[in-house]
Order: sequence, then C-alpha cells, then structure tokens
Amino acid sequence: MLLDARNLHISYGDIRAVDGISFSLEKGELVSIVGANGAGKTSILNSIMGIVPLKKGTVVFENEDITSLAAHQRAKAGIRMVPERARVFPRLTVYENLLTGIYGLRKSIKLDVQIPWLYDLFPILRERKDQPAVTLSGGEQQQLAIARALISNPTLLLVDEVSMGLMPKLVDQVFDMLKQLNRQKELTILIVEQNAVASLEISHRAYVLETGTIVHQGAASELLEDPKIKEVYLGTGTQNSQATSS
Ligand SMILES: Nc1ncnc2c1ncn2[C@@H]1O[C@H](COP(=O)(O)OP(=O)(O)OP(=O)(O)O)[C@@H](O)[C@H]1O
Ligand SMILES: [Mg+2]
Repeated sequence: MLLDARNLHISYGDIRAVDGISFSLEKGELVSIVGANGAGKTSILNSIMGIVPLKKGTVVFENEDITSLAAHQRAKAGIRMVPERARVFPRLTVYENLLTGIYGLRKSIKLDVQIPWLYDLFPILRERKDQPAVTLSGGEQQQLAIARALISNPTLLLVDEVSMGLMPKLVDQVFDMLKQLNRQKELTILIVEQNAVASLEISHRAYVLETGTIVHQGAASELLEDPKIKEVYLGTGTQNSQATSS
C-alpha cells in the first residue's frame, strides 16, 4: 500500500469538515474522491499534504507514519499537490514558476531532463516560457500548476478540482494527460472532483464523499453504472441536475 489514511478528522473551529474517513491507495492506482461543494475534498487533500492539521487520525505513506511531518517534508518524501484554482505566481514567468516546484528539492532533480519533458507534455508552456504567468489563460495556468507539481517526479500526485473553470474540451485533455501519466509513468494519483463523470472515467476506484463522510466506494466503472449514484452524483439520472456551470 502506498498511502493509508485512517480515521481522518478535520475541523475548523466548531466546523467539522471531515468526520472520520479512511481510504487507501495502492502504488500505480488512480483514485477519485468525488463530492459536492463543501463536502470536504480540499480539506482531505490539504491534510495529506500537511497543510491542514488533523484533529484525529493517521497518514501512512510508504509504510512510514507521516502524520506529524510538515508539508515540505512530505514533498521531499514524494507527495505533491496541484492546488485548487491552479495557484501560480502571477508575476513570475512560466519557467520561473516551474522552478518553484523544486524549491528545497533541487539536488535530486535533473532540470535538463525535466524541463524538456514538461514542455513536451504541455507544449503551450514552451511557447509561453518567458511570459509572466498572469498572462496565461485559466486553462494554461492549470497546465502550469500540474507541470510545477510534476517537475520533482513525485510518487504520489494529489489533484484538487483540476476541471474547475476549464472548457469541456480542455477538461478532457487534462484528464487524458493524468490518465497517461498514471498508466504510462505509473504515477499514483488521487483526484478530488465535483466533475464526477470525468474523473470516474479515468479512475480505477473511487470514494463518494458527503459532508465529511464516505458514503460509497468501489470500482469506478461500477459507480458509473450504479443507478442511484448516477442520479444523485453524476447528473445523468432522471433528476437531470445541472453540473457546476454557473
Ligand atoms: N479555513 C476554513 N475555515 C473555516 N471553515 C472552512 C475552512 N476551509 C474549509 N472550511 C469548511 O469546511 C467544509 C469543507 O470544505 P472543503 O473546502 O474541504 O470542501 P470541498 O469539498 O473542497 O468544497 P469545494 O467543492 O467547494 O471546493 C466546508 O463547510 C467549508 O466551509
Ligand atoms: Mg475544494
């Protein structure tokens, strides 16, 4: 097992955001946690990355208890995150933004290999490499955020709501790329998403999160076919609920 998260409790003051959830990832898996606004998805990822403290629970990564490690130590251990809303440094160039991904990890990273590899994965970043990140479109910034997380060759990539603000065609492209990274480079990926259909389609397994609790779990293909899940979470059932566009 690559990651084992047990009995996670996360609170902000009196607000109980995550209420004793457990999940695990095998090496080479692509797993999604899907759920609505405020279900606790970002809180879970932040707690795995070490940005938000756990009130209770343990996180074991590569058989080592990392519950008390700081975020930079977890990054060094091989966990990287693509944050919600692709937070890039607006005034730094695309290239400089990529370099921020190796801060504190410099020694072991061969830039002459990694940079061309990332530019091949995301050709638009090569074209824009000397432009400030603020001049990139939302979709391009999302690609930059992914590239910045990949530059250090992580063992586990955490991806927060990567589809947000992207047009459907770009959502497909980004998910395709995550699938390729998983299947070809055996990168283990944990995706949290409101866009349940797109993320389930590329996932091996998934967990359904509802106000801080896991209410369903199983093979992604089974969840995609489950009539109840379809109706409530995928917006493809009889209820025909609207997706995230607003
Ligand atoms: N810093 C914070 N202070 C107080 N409450 C917070 C904080 N961060 C999150 N919360 C609350 O915790 C709950 C879970 O939030 P979280 O951001 O983890 O949800 P989410 O599933 O990522 O939602 P979204 O799909 O909107 O990104 C929400 O009720 C939210 O209001
Ligand atoms: Mg979120």
